[in-house]
Amino acid sequence: MAIREIPADQLDPQQFITEQAAAIAERVGDGVAINALSGGVDSSAVTMLGHRALGDRLKTYFVDNALMREGEPERIAAIFAALGVHIDIIDAREEFLAALAGITDPEEKREAVTQTFYKHVFGRLVRESGARFLLQGTILTDVDETVAGIKRQHNVFEQLGIDPSEAFGYEIIEPLVQLRKDGVRKVAQAAGLPEEIYNRMPFPGPALAARIIGEATRERLDTIRQCTSIVERELAGCGAFQYMAILHEDRVTGMRDGERDFGMQIELRCWDSVDARTATPTRLPWETLEALAALLTSEVPGVVSVTYSITTKPPSTMEAV
Ligand code: XMP
Repeated sequence: MAIREIPADQLDPQQFITEQAAAIAERVGDGVAINALSGGVDSSAVTMLGHRALGDRLKTYFVDNALMREGEPERIAAIFAALGVHIDIIDAREEFLAALAGITDPEEKREAVTQTFYKHVFGRLVRESGARFLLQGTILTDVDETVAGIKRQHNVFEQLGIDPSEAFGYEIIEPLVQLRKDGVRKVAQAAGLPEEIYNRMPFPGPALAARIIGEATRERLDTIRQCTSIVERELAGCGAFQYMAILHEDRVTGMRDGERDFGMQIELRCWDSVDARTATPTRLPWETLEALAALLTSEVPGVVSVTYSITTKPPSTMEAV
């Protein structure tokens, strides 16, 4: 069945929220639903819609996968707590680190993160909760990409390893499926979420594992986490579509305190883009780049080199992994 798109300029977000909350309430009846919150705008909007419809009968989990930005689980839980929505943080860090150990291939890394999330951690939560309904933040662009074969799958049943024909009782509810990202941002704002959520910069599903070339170990994640905090702090408000630090696998010779220091290299990327399909590097002021290089090499142990990518997408992609 074709999905009827609601373009952002024709969307009345309050009316949409009222209608979708009513639809969720009707479908779930007196049952229980669950959803996973990542802190991105789609899952945040769904969490608000679901809680408006179901209150405490929606269980929302934030899975800490060890790949998050500094303080992220607590920050997201606090934002929702201020809105009266309780979030359960699930500490799955060891499970994800174990799944990523020894993996250097980019696609294998993505697969390890996806499988650990859906097959193991979230799958377990679904089964244990007894919920018959899963709320998911699928948007129309995700459906388009799935149909076009760009994304491998977006079906929770399949990702959970559940055969839909056997999975009586499990129903997926996708309240945002008629919207694109600009529409979701309007709904998120109208639902009372703060600007830091509804205007949030894109961030990849494999999180900081997508910002590490080579193995994502605990130590290397700590390094890229610190770099990410500095880059996001310093470039906040620069107006770019997305900015990031990338940890390279090769080491280079540097000097510190008059001694040779064979250390790590960080690549900065900052993109101007409309829809992430094509992008150009932002012409950041030279002073900004110099300040970033000084901060990264002085504040992050072991970093001796900082470079700035001046390549367009294509042929580059936005993330390095
Ligand atoms: P690329 O690297 O493909 O990125 O030019 C385009 C946009 O998509 C985001 N991205 C991802 N998002 N899972 C995601 O959820 C991923 O594996 C992934 N890879 C890239 C990226 O941050 C950018 O906004």
